[in-house]
Amino acid sequence: MKTIKIAIDGPAGAGKSTVAKLVARELGYLYIDTGAMYRALTYMALKEGIDLNDEQELNKYLMNHSIQLINDGVIQKVEIDGEDVTDLIRTPEVNKNVSLVASHPEVRKTMVKIQQDLSKDQSVVMDGRDIGTYVLPNAELKIYLTASINERAKRRYEELIKKGFQANLEEIIEDISLRDKRDKERATAPLKQADDAILIDTSSLSIEEVVEKIMKLVHERTGGE
Ligand code: DC
Repeated sequence: MKTIKIAIDGPAGAGKSTVAKLVARELGYLYIDTGAMYRALTYMALKEGIDLNDEQELNKYLMNHSIQLINDGVIQKVEIDGEDVTDLIRTPEVNKNVSLVASHPEVRKTMVKIQQDLSKDQSVVMDGRDIGTYVLPNAELKIYLTASINERAKRRYEELIKKGFQANLEEIIEDISLRDKRDKERATAPLKQADDAILIDTSSLSIEEVVEKIMKLVHERTGGE
């Protein structure tokens, strides 16, 4: 059976994971949140006291442990060696350190391999930064989701407050700008719109409107398969 791959890339806070999850659910495809995988590695490295600049140690840890993404209804649980880290990977500390971990070429090479293996024999919606450009270069549909920095920061702020964290909008704007810069300027697989990706600016769109747009594109591309 032919499998369908949908790649959704874009900067932090553009709405990728919310939208990707809904599209995957509507299509009955597996949802793979690749940012969660970099976050899980970052969380464990911080916990184990691994130097985040030590590319070899980080890569060794990644190769010797297993990251699992478990689709549990609307929630996607993230586990490392069976330990549930779903909430622990969304803290400001992980936010601050994850792009450093994700900047190491060896770590990215291993992650890409894990992600390609996960999507090998099934239809998937995968979100991240390098999905259309590196992980799934032959994806049937590539979307690049973006939004203004103020809108993205506002969304992150509301998400953190809702989860009971303290948050400061100015700090979030600064944090997102720094992460954007690091993600776009890193030497290996920088955040970049693939040549054949469709750009959707979500600044003034509701989640439902974005999902609807993507579903329309999916049907156009796959003929409703
Ligand atoms: O989407 P997110 O905010 O959960 O991603 C966390 C970090 O991981 C982000 O700073 C960039 C990095 N990332 C990446 O480099 N490549 C991916 N495919 C996904 C995320």
